[in-house]
Amino acid sequence: MGEVVLERDEGAGGGEGQRPPIALTPRRAPLIGDWAVRRRTFTWRQARGWLEGLPGGALNIAHEAVDRHGRGDLADVVAVRFLARNEPTTELTYAELARQTDVTAVALQDLGVRRGDRVCTLLPRSPELYLTALGTLKAGAVYCPLFPAFGMEPVRQRLELGGVRVLVTDSESYANKVAPVRDRLPDLQTVVVVDAGGAGDEPSTAEVMAWETVMQEASESLQRNGFEIVSTRPDEPALLHFTSGTTGRPKGAVHVHEAVVAHHATARFSLDLSPGDLYWCTADPGWVTGTSYGIIGPLTCGATVITDSADFDAKRWYSILQDEKVEVFYTAPTALRMLMRRGVEMAHDYDLSSLRHVVSVGEPLNPEAVLWGLEAFGLPVHDTWWQTETGAIIVSNYPGMPVRPGSMGRPMPGVEVGVLERGADGRAGVVDGHVHVLDDPHAVGELAIRPGWPSMFRDYLGEPERYAKAFVDGWYLTGDLARLDGDGYLWFVGRADDVIKSAGHLIGPFEVESALMEHPAVAEVGVIGKPDPLAGEIVKAFVTLKADMVPSESLRRELITFGRKRLGSVAPREIAFEEHLPHTRSGKVMRRLLKARELGLPEGDLSTVERPA
Ligand code: PRX
Repeated sequence: MGEVVLERDEGAGGGEGQRPPIALTPRRAPLIGDWAVRRRTFTWRQARGWLEGLPGGALNIAHEAVDRHGRGDLADVVAVRFLARNEPTTELTYAELARQTDVTAVALQDLGVRRGDRVCTLLPRSPELYLTALGTLKAGAVYCPLFPAFGMEPVRQRLELGGVRVLVTDSESYANKVAPVRDRLPDLQTVVVVDAGGAGDEPSTAEVMAWETVMQEASESLQRNGFEIVSTRPDEPALLHFTSGTTGRPKGAVHVHEAVVAHHATARFSLDLSPGDLYWCTADPGWVTGTSYGIIGPLTCGATVITDSADFDAKRWYSILQDEKVEVFYTAPTALRMLMRRGVEMAHDYDLSSLRHVVSVGEPLNPEAVLWGLEAFGLPVHDTWWQTETGAIIVSNYPGMPVRPGSMGRPMPGVEVGVLERGADGRAGVVDGHVHVLDDPHAVGELAIRPGWPSMFRDYLGEPERYAKAFVDGWYLTGDLARLDGDGYLWFVGRADDVIKSAGHLIGPFEVESALMEHPAVAEVGVIGKPDPLAGEIVKAFVTLKADMVPSESLRRELITFGRKRLGSVAPREIAFEEHLPHTRSGKVMRRLLKARELGLPEGDLSTVERPA
């Protein structure tokens, strides 16, 4: 085998020196009750019964998240409160959200959006984002969020791959990231710009339409003709989330309306959300957490979602926790590490007594961060594990269950996970079509999940073969390496592939390499995740130059700027020039070897490395 296997220190995986479990009495009886009992008794059918559904067996996420509350007992409860720097706070009750998402759905239909069409946002966390997401679902179309910090290239590629029909964005993003490539996006029929002014202000043009104009017309049309939410089937596509793999283009994970059953059950069991609870999710909806748990899950529970469009700022965050009286806080390890850097004293300057549950996702949560939570908030941080493909939380430290610092927790009731023995390539090994489930609590293998949970992705858009490859012998293979201890707690060990995790965001090395390759000086690129104390990993690129080019500091800076411009937040932070990059005999750049060298680790068996002539 020619692979260098890089894994996290086993100590962090719950071996020797493991920290003692933390068992605190929860401030409110947890909705999950006792995990072991719930795991024996829970069925997805039961969770489906907690939702309302539509006549004839139809199911629409937006009905469960908004309409059934907006037209029921929770009509006057605040659904979403929007905080922004230098702008007044605004909020929408469930009743207002129900009406305004009707208007948005009518607007989209009037723009020609039909069932199954894709609608994208490229927006900060704002009312228009929430209205577009939920209005799209009401219209029976598929919502696809894009991260606003993406540069032109990731935006173009996703709009193209998604065959996106309508994009809602702001004028700056439109001018910088979309207008220059619009002629390469034949499917993109309409762009709605949220800050273009209303009717009589700046007229809409053939190129872009003004949000206010579109909504005003739709509001009139709604009054004339009414609107009925589209009766989508449970297995009809609802959400499209792009995610990154090791090779090739981004993968468009397709989720269906039935996913709402899992969004709801996990928001109850893992986040412990009830009607009226004040809940803050710091994730951007451009990534799956911000959609599943910034929009859908908490709304299905009737909670009040706090959302802030500003970037991270420790004092601002503590002020929000204090002033908004946040009860449940869902965030990421990088953010927690940034808070930790400011010291526990800063946390103590604020009254955080409303907090009753702190939860984390997206990257390994250091045991120190779990314990720091105890000091800062009086609560341990509860880690959760899941992926874009799983659509909802799969593994969690549930409220009321002892937290084992460093462990991702236990599987969600209704979900079967397995740790599978690996083959020579580091992935789950298949012998005669079968995999082997490890039962040794110390053994590391590939984390796998039995299909059957409702938010499982149903397709990689336009790539049925790639989708099929994700399943082997009745398991979905996650690409993560983990260990399952004797008490059913899972411990993250590492990725089985070269995908990079920076500040909780998944970055495909191939996408970064392809963008840098477009610079005229560049001959070849290999990209790795370089460990970083704050962001977990940062993107580092190793570059060889074309024959007539000479490495220099100014060229390095030029490449950094080139990457930033094209890629935005996923661009490399470090670039190193190399004479040669290591290749396999089949000609692929060996990223793992680049990484081993960067880290000063043993290079392993190099029998498949092609030596430069
Ligand atoms: O490698 C795992 C890591 O994030 C990957 C999924 O990333 P994405 O699809 O962008 O979804 C992120 C939000 C759910 C996983 O395959 N990951 C996620 N949660 C954890 C984690 N790694 C360690 N510990 C976690 N709790």
